[in-house]
Amino acid sequence: MDEPKSVGWKETLITVLIVFGLSLFYAIIRYNIVRNVSFDNLPLYIVNKAVALSATILIGLSFLLGPLARFFKKQFIPHLYLRKHLGVIGFGVAALHAVMSLILLNPAYYPRFYLEGGKLNLAGESAMLFGILSFLIFAAISVTSIPPVEKQMHPNQWKLVQRFGYLAYVFVLVHVAIMGYGGWFRIESWQYGLASISLISALFIIFVLTMRVLVIAFSKKS
Ligand code: HEM
Repeated sequence: MDEPKSVGWKETLITVLIVFGLSLFYAIIRYNIVRNVSFDNLPLYIVNKAVALSATILIGLSFLLGPLARFFKKQFIPHLYLRKHLGVIGFGVAALHAVMSLILLNPAYYPRFYLEGGKLNLAGESAMLFGILSFLIFAAISVTSIPPVEKQMHPNQWKLVQRFGYLAYVFVLVHVAIMGYGGWFRIESWQYGLASISLISALFIIFVLTMRVLVIAFSKKS
């Protein structure tokens, strides 16, 4: 059954506002309040953290709807159409994160990514590589979600391109793990029990990928 074209945008907007609002609230509490990052750095540096987390969650929710509809048919099948909206908006938010990050990318903001002479170190270069690769794959997937482009493609071809989204999501996991791994097991980064945004993102990605693996395992059995 075809849904009218405007269906779902209100639900998507509410989801985006809730996800971004909670992410920003958490980023302000963890970085500005607990870790004393100056409020002068709220507009870009801290908002960028909330934007990065929101992009990861929105894209993840778009992947998650399929497995959820498989396990909880009644509750989630009626919402499956939100997959495309959340994916495309998630990509737009990731694009915002890429622009904000490229403006901020220098040793004063991210000393841990740089060598003394001012060049990126191995962790910095690798993290940026995986960020850019994931971004390019999400961009290609979003282009194939434009209705005239989708119509030109064979359904199997279209599905294959969409599946590359999981590879891009694994690349995001590598992107955040390279940047955050060092801090995940350090006591100082757990003040008041608040986990870093990179760890929260990594755990969410692992959860989404695990749900996908479970769906594959269950569909092979049945
Ligand atoms: C051109 C592409 C990208 C660039 C240049 C880039 C750059 C960066 C930089 C510089 C950081 C460090 C931010 C900080 O610690 O304050 C970062 C963190 C992060 N990025 Fe990206 N990124 C890109 C793509 C992506 C994509 C596509 C996603 C997800 C959909 C993503 C998700 C994240 C997350 C969750 C963090 C962790 C934030 C934190 O630890 O506070 N990035 N990225």
